[in-house]
Amino acid sequence: MLYSEKVMDHFRNPRNVGEIADADGVGEVGNAKCGDIMKMYLKIEDGIIVDVKFETFGCGSAIATSSMATELIKGKQVDEALSLTNQAVVEALDGLPAHKIHCSVLAEEAVRAAIKDYYDKNGIAYEPEQFCSGDCSCCHEHDHHGE
Ligand code: FES
Repeated sequence: MLYSEKVMDHFRNPRNVGEIADADGVGEVGNAKCGDIMKMYLKIEDGIIVDVKFETFGCGSAIATSSMATELIKGKQVDEALSLTNQAVVEALDGLPAHKIHCSVLAEEAVRAAIKDYYDKNGIAYEPEQFCSGDCSCCHEHDHHGE
């Protein structure tokens, strides 16, 4: 079978869909590969993610991974949520077909973007590298100055 039971379950009954009007952090990301969009809302109290919701115009795998990602970070410390990887989400779903792995990246990036927004709004200092997945050149741009 192409998709695990868990993927089908989260796709059919996604958890935490919607928006949080007074969210403390909102992240919106697009998938460069397919153009799909994901929006993640976080409600944060005392450094804990007390509520999380998402909206997506994405495929079934994007819906399933976002749903699982929200369950994994709910009730967690912000910095714990920051270390959530798409591999962890995929494992929690008992795997995804290889050509669908990029969909799970959307969920991971949306979580990070929402946390970054929260840090920015609250003047919390952070290392830019924390928000870099390492597969882009954004953090290394300064290396090329003067070349
Ligand atoms: Fe776009 Fe899956 S095909 S997120």
